[in-house]
Amino acid sequence: MTDRRDEIEIKTPRLTLRTFRAADVPAIVEGIGDFEVSKWLAPVPHPYGPADAEWYLETLARQPNYWAITRKGALIGGMAIDDSLGYWLARSEWGQGYATEAGFAVIDRWFANPEAPDLTSGHFDDNARSGGVLCKLGFEYTGRKPMFCRARDAEFPSRRMTLSRAKWHEMRSLPHLTTPRCVLRPLTAEDAPRLSEIGGIPEVARNTVSIPAPWPVDEARDWIAAGRWKERPGFRLGILDRNGQLIGMAGLSPADQDGIASVAYFVEKSLWGRGLVTEVMEAFIPAVFRAFPLKALDADHDTDNPASGVVLRKLGFDYLGDRLGARTRLRLEPEPVSHYRLERSRFEARL
Ligand SMILES: CC(C)(COP(=O)(O)OP(=O)(O)OC[C@H]1O[C@@H](n2cnc3c(N)ncnc32)[C@H](O)[C@@H]1OP(=O)(O)O)[C@@H](O)C(=O)NCCC(=O)NCCS
Repeated sequence: MTDRRDEIEIKTPRLTLRTFRAADVPAIVEGIGDFEVSKWLAPVPHPYGPADAEWYLETLARQPNYWAITRKGALIGGMAIDDSLGYWLARSEWGQGYATEAGFAVIDRWFANPEAPDLTSGHFDDNARSGGVLCKLGFEYTGRKPMFCRARDAEFPSRRMTLSRAKWHEMRSLPHLTTPRCVLRPLTAEDAPRLSEIGGIPEVARNTVSIPAPWPVDEARDWIAAGRWKERPGFRLGILDRNGQLIGMAGLSPADQDGIASVAYFVEKSLWGRGLVTEVMEAFIPAVFRAFPLKALDADHDTDNPASGVVLRKLGFDYLGDRLGARTRLRLEPEPVSHYRLERSRFEARL
């Protein structure tokens, strides 16, 4: 029997979430069979064998909102929402932000359903790692409750948490947008010194129209003022890491007469190649389409900067061809740029 759920996949910059399959049994047993994993999961027995995994796949994992977390084709964990959000990762995969990344994607999908209720979750008191994940996902502590842990065959104190639709919506809306590893916020004049350092190097500035290299701090301050947040297209936001350090910017041009605006972005060179721009744009683009009645989004990149094209294609943009770009501060003559577009209709069809 084919199950339409088998066709559903959620892609994140580093992970693919898909339905569980019978062939996942060995990886599940290896992951959850580790007492360091099962001791934090209330309903899971220890030892945990193939029969337990088969029972799980047949009874629970066929339901909606049960996701196998895979990376490069291999199953590394699971995440589910039944009466609350629960998850696990194989121990070798901890500490790389995967649970947080999967959580953002699963929760986005949950709240995309207007009927879906607020989420609950929780963790055993001493499972600080899971508390860190839930806090990053926006969950707030609501109380304490003893919980029975099957693997340890005893009751332990646990902390209960809730994530409301309103809180999630706020976290995923402009101009304060939260992603697994970053936060976006309006730029201020105090950001100018740091921004001029990040943007004012040839490798970054050459991909922008208005930034010179080096970039004097006073000019960066004016640039920030010109692009301040104004609740309509034509603004730039700072991208910060989770420690509050400014690491880049995401911007949207004013809309043209056809209702099309362009997105622009850069991150600090030392952070290239980690999927950060994809992660930020995956949240920024839906937030832009939700906030403004734009018909489409455009993006250009230098023809000699193919990495940017890869990001745009992953985000669903179509390549429209090469065209002559605007004159930039680093080039006296306009040069060809590759031109991409994401139509609202195409974007909405992907939801
Ligand atoms: C919980 C679990 C899924 C976390 O996965 P992960 O991919 O390592 O989590 P992330 O990397 O996304 O986030 C871990 C966060 O925990 C926090 N953290 C990690 N170790 C911590 C510690 N010792 N003390 C306090 N916080 C800690 C940090 O906030 C970290 O986030 P950071 O990126 O800001 O540093 C994984 O440890 C696991 O499978 N544990 C066993 C099963 C389990 O506990 N499931 C949840 C049941 S409630």
